[in-house]
Amino acid sequence: MRKLIVANYKMNGDKKLFKQIVKKINKIKLRDTKVVLCPPFIYLNEFKIKNNIVSIGSQDITNDENSKSTGQISAKMLLEHDVKYVIVGHSERRKIGENDKLINQKINVCLNNFLMPIICVGEEKKTDKLDIVLSQIKNALDSINKNFVPIIAYEPVWSIGTGKLPSINRIDKMIDMIKSFLKTIGYNESLVLYGGSVGLDNYKEIIKSKIDGLLLGGVSLRIDKFIKILKGIDNE
Ligand code: 13P
Repeated sequence: MRKLIVANYKMNGDKKLFKQIVKKINKIKLRDTKVVLCPPFIYLNEFKIKNNIVSIGSQDITNDENSKSTGQISAKMLLEHDVKYVIVGHSERRKIGENDKLINQKINVCLNNFLMPIICVGEEKKTDKLDIVLSQIKNALDSINKNFVPIIAYEPVWSIGTGKLPSINRIDKMIDMIKSFLKTIGYNESLVLYGGSVGLDNYKEIIKSKIDGLLLGGVSLRIDKFIKILKGIDNE
């Protein structure tokens, strides 16, 4: 099945690195894999993509396009830079105060502007009850219309950047839980990605689970490794 691989560069990279990444990514040929690259806002301009399997995403969006907001970025600005996807509610933003209500408003702004939100959810600690994830999803999609296919990125916070991964069983259990919960609230179709400490050494294992794709952090900055992962997944 076609996989969606999203690169979240977070607050990393510079013009030189992104020029190299864009050059290489423009040449890559994949049969059955879709790629989304999410640079920091200030580097969106470097991402002149000439490859129809690759799209641009942003790492955030404003929740209120009508207010006077110093430092915020609107949907209109993102659309002008060919952005198609938006990461919403990443745990690193939740950590600095982003709550479910704000995330819900941002999803609304995305959909009103034909931008596809990638909605991040995940438990803080390995020992946390997993239904926290379902309440994050429920709140994120509160009053959101049912005519779209939600993309949920399941990213256990304890796994991000730590080298610690859930077992394939646990990932599969989460995917099943998330997909069946989404059905109960009216979304029959959905994509569920996994994110957290995925690298060249473990992606083959992770991709055997029921996931529809990956949200990659650190490894996406290592262009040669990133391309190996893309090709490896495409050949599965
Ligand atoms: P790492 O792959 O560096 O653990 O980061 C995952 C992540 O947070 C992607 O959004």
